[in-house]
Amino acid sequence: MSHIVIVGSANIDITHRGNRFPSPGETLPSDNSYISLGGKGLNQSIAASRLSNKKIVKFIGSVGEDAFGEKIKNDLLNEKLDISDLNTTNEDMTGNAIIYIDSDNNNQISVYPGANSKNGDSEVEVFSNISEKVSIVMLQQEIPIETNYKILKVAKNKKIITILDPGPPKEEFRNFTDYLKLVDFLTPNKHEAEYILGKKINGKELEAAKEIRNMGPKNVIITLGKDGIVFAGEKVGRLPSYNVNSVDPVGSGDCFNGALAVKIYEKSSFNDALNFSIFASALSTINQGASQSFPKLEDIRNNDLTTN
Ligand SMILES: Nc1ncnc2c1ncn2[C@@H]1O[C@H](COP(=O)(O)OP(=O)(O)OP(=O)(O)O)[C@@H](O)[C@H]1O
Ligand SMILES: [Mg+2]
Repeated sequence: MSHIVIVGSANIDITHRGNRFPSPGETLPSDNSYISLGGKGLNQSIAASRLSNKKIVKFIGSVGEDAFGEKIKNDLLNEKLDISDLNTTNEDMTGNAIIYIDSDNNNQISVYPGANSKNGDSEVEVFSNISEKVSIVMLQQEIPIETNYKILKVAKNKKIITILDPGPPKEEFRNFTDYLKLVDFLTPNKHEAEYILGKKINGKELEAAKEIRNMGPKNVIITLGKDGIVFAGEKVGRLPSYNVNSVDPVGSGDCFNGALAVKIYEKSSFNDALNFSIFASALSTINQGASQSFPKLEDIRNNDLTTN
């Protein structure tokens, strides 16, 4: 069976909500605390698995030999996800983030990549060994860029469609001059697009997509939050977002990418794939949290939205 394979990060997020942030040296009781799954690789895997009919999504990544890693593995077993090649390493702890949110919803986040940095040649080899069964691979930049580069190379050799979310921005991508040329669908948000181009793009988003397209990717889709998307490549244009009562946009880009991978896998037209992805990502903003707010196929069917 052919698969969508996502190689990337898996984190545990520990959130504290309070009136204000603790000051240096201060111990401040918080009003609320919760643990959730995070990491762009994990988020995108959950989005794609929830939006596909069959069990076609495989997540390749690395967690530590600890309680956080156990929680990730247990929680992912409840999704329609293949995690048989999710590695457990004793070299570092599971990636995690400590998130403070104050009463105005500002956040302060400290991230420890931990086991995510251990994604290396063994993950490239795992991917290589299963590549005959893979039709799409999706990557982000929370694992070493060199690992992404090697996976993109294998994918190109095997004619596997490649999707890259270039977040978070990392300077090392410029060390691999053909990095972007190996990408079929590049999906930066506005900030990442500005980073790639090295300039502000305010009001010139479509031009920016075309400029990034000239750097090598076959298609560039810039996501613009509630302003929707612009795209340049085989098709060029702009689509508005769907109108929702958005309470938490965290992870909406990850939901967009997961949805896009599914529709490309299903060989939908480019326009239908984009439309489905902006619909799904709009729905992901109406509830709190990242992956826990991602819609399932029935949520897509049961919601009727209009565009902004
Ligand atoms: N307020 C909103 N209303 C409707 N749709 C939204 C809203 N915010 C985001 N979206 C949808 O989600 C897509 C991705 O959003 P955005 O560009 O903010 O991603 P991002 O910054 O990469 O997010 P993250 O990295 O946290 O997952 C947008 O293109 C849009 O379709
Ligand atoms: Mg993003």
